[in-house]
Amino acid sequence: MKIHLVDTQATMNLGIVLGQTLTAGTVILLAGDLGAGKTTLVQGLGKGLGIIEPIVSPTFTLINEYTEGRIPLYHLDLYRLDPQEVVNLNLESYWEGIEVIPGIVAIEWSERMPYKPSSYINVLLTYGDEGSRQAEITPFNCTINEYIATI
Ligand SMILES: Nc1ncnc2c1ncn2[C@@H]1O[C@H](COP(=O)(O)OP(=O)(O)OP(=O)(O)O)[C@@H](O)[C@H]1O
Ligand SMILES: [Mg+2]
Repeated sequence: MKIHLVDTQATMNLGIVLGQTLTAGTVILLAGDLGAGKTTLVQGLGKGLGIIEPIVSPTFTLINEYTEGRIPLYHLDLYRLDPQEVVNLNLESYWEGIEVIPGIVAIEWSERMPYKPSSYINVLLTYGDEGSRQAEITPFNCTINEYIATI
């Protein structure tokens, strides 16, 4: 499914709908060039989940956890890591809910992952005309709410 995102607010809105509808245990793998809008989408996700705390890029902290919303949000950014470092993070504990409360796991620079969960939603953000963006959403072994397409 391809969605045209005309401006920053449109990217936010897509995140908001995802945050309102996705269930605990969902993994969102975000891919796309520098500045494509990955963090913006996660900021929307946070809003949709009811998180008031500002969502900031975890480029240096690696993982930011937000627990004040409907369900927890785990926001990761793998930009600075190589595949072996990613393996060492034991990311599966997040999506398997081992020692963490199940929530939504959103991973920026998921291209860096040498392995993927058994089910996830892939969101590829690309640059479009006149500074806009496009999101290509592909669910793997899971479903997404159809009204996302109406945004
Ligand atoms: N649909 C859109 N149209 C135009 N600008 C957008 C759109 N979505 C987001 N932006 C803008 O793009 C810029 C970069 O966004 P953002 O930080 O979310 O990208 P990113 O993919 O997380 O970048 P990085 O690769 O550095 O992590 C921001 O200024 C944001 O407002
Ligand atoms: Mg980012």
